[in-house]
Amino acid sequence: MATKTVQFEIKRQANPDAPAVWERFELEWRPGMNVTTALMEIAANPVTADGRQTTPVTYESNCLEEVCGSCAMRINGKARMACSSLIDDLEQPIRLEPLSKFPLVRDLQVDRSVLFENLKAVKAWVPIDGTYDLGSGPRMLPQDQEESYPLSRCISCTCCMEVCPQFNEATGFVGAATIAQVKLFNNHPTGKVLKAERLQALSGDGGIQECGYAQNCVEACPKQLPLTNAISDVGRDVIVQKVRDLLRK
Ligand code: SF4
Ligand code: SF4
Ligand code: FES
Repeated sequence: MATKTVQFEIKRQANPDAPAVWERFELEWRPGMNVTTALMEIAANPVTADGRQTTPVTYESNCLEEVCGSCAMRINGKARMACSSLIDDLEQPIRLEPLSKFPLVRDLQVDRSVLFENLKAVKAWVPIDGTYDLGSGPRMLPQDQEESYPLSRCISCTCCMEVCPQFNEATGFVGAATIAQVKLFNNHPTGKVLKAERLQALSGDGGIQECGYAQNCVEACPKQLPLTNAISDVGRDVIVQKVRDLLRK
């Protein structure tokens, strides 16, 4: 009986200035294979489908269970997580490309640090003094917990930014993930002490007004964050904050 195989086409680029080339790989099919396990096999034996020795494909991964957010790439043209993309669910040849909206490092690895800079800009954290034991934190009402928990599932994968028509150099838009984290930390009983600063950070160029509400983000999010709801809620809060700031002048 002929061995069942899996075909891949992978976009290779040795560095940001090198020309991009496509390489074909063929692996033996195994039950439960996903894109990351296939990339691991290619790294262990980097030989193309036509028998040519090549370099191991560079890609990022860590948790292998859709928690760390590092393995986002374009799989058959769609931004998604390699570790949770089962081979049996994908049309072949499976085409792997790096995310297109972020600076390329090599092959399938990109530099997603813009998201972390955006999160810093909006102070996406709960400010606490960690030098002494603060005891247990303030209690949250169950309904507030229910609203916050889905937002806390963000894995910083940047899929929502990759698919957003407004996330580009011209707008400098922060993207849906950052806005969702503003809502999460503004809802937090201790985090809300920085609420005004977070909303002010979203009110200028590249802020929330850049969103065209195309809703691509919510469809692409692997963790099903309620992104468009968060954008609506934070948009309203940004307007209220602007009015408050105007009245204070
Ligand atoms: S709603 Fe559209 S424009 Fe706004 S963040 Fe999502 S994809 Fe981007
Ligand atoms: S909001 Fe969703 S798509 Fe965007 S970074 Fe977080 S987990 Fe990824
Ligand atoms: S390896 Fe962590 S999300 Fe895929």
